[in-house]
Amino acid sequence: MCEVIVVASGKGGTGKTTVCAGLAVALAKNNQKVLIMDCDSGMRGVDMVLGVSDKLVYDISDIVSGGCDYDDAVYRVVNDLQLYCVAAPLYADDEVSPSLIREFVEKARKDYDYILIDSPAGTGSGFVSAAAAADRALVVINTEPISIRGCKNIKARLDEMKIDDQRLVINRFDKDRFYQMGLYEDLDAVIDEAGIRLIGLIPEDIRVIALSQRGALTSNWSKTGIIFDTIAHRLDGTDVPIIVK
Ligand SMILES: Nc1ncnc2c1ncn2[C@@H]1O[C@H](COP(=O)(O)OP(=O)(O)O)[C@@H](O)[C@H]1O
Ligand SMILES: [Mg+2]
Repeated sequence: MCEVIVVASGKGGTGKTTVCAGLAVALAKNNQKVLIMDCDSGMRGVDMVLGVSDKLVYDISDIVSGGCDYDDAVYRVVNDLQLYCVAAPLYADDEVSPSLIREFVEKARKDYDYILIDSPAGTGSGFVSAAAAADRALVVINTEPISIRGCKNIKARLDEMKIDDQRLVINRFDKDRFYQMGLYEDLDAVIDEAGIRLIGLIPEDIRVIALSQRGALTSNWSKTGIIFDTIAHRLDGTDVPIIVK
């Protein structure tokens, strides 16, 4: 059965696009068939980090408006993985409504094991569209009060939308910097404040930036790639311990 997961955050730049792409690659490497839907209209980025920008002709607004066939706007990311993506519109004005997103997802469900949806930051209409068809949500934060405030806003909105299966991803974690800043006693304090159960802790890793700028997030990312792999396993309920390094 297909799982539809929206990746969200209250604050911009926490790493939603990176988490969405990294997790999609990890799931596809575990033989899952995965579609990434970029719903960040006006700020699309999934195509860039996965290196498929040059292939793109159509985006999701073309599909739902009948401007192209369903298959024309779904691009295979790399030949050796069952990983596909559909781009967000280039311009925010072309944002797709929640009901049309729902229609698209209902049609796509039968073709995939996972549909991961990258959303714009915040709780505005773009997020509501992105989350409209989701069964579950991953909320991405960094260990800063502003980011956690954003997480609470997203949580409230997800609660309203009855998306109860919410899990927290702490991204760009740097243990030394975290304790030097002294904003929180420990990671449990961050998780308690966020109010969502943790599913993954991703370290600050300069290779993530280098690979995403080159459109190469599908390549082997060594240590951080393994972390995405463990999150992929936790998504299907496997109990893999979270190690804080
Ligand atoms: N774990 C990480 N380590 C280092 N840099 C990261 C990590 N995750 C994301 N980044 C970088 O942070 C920036 C914002 O990430 P992005 O995924 O675009 O965030 P968002 O989609 O939430 O706006 C990008 O430059 C990205 O490469
Ligand atoms: Mg993004």
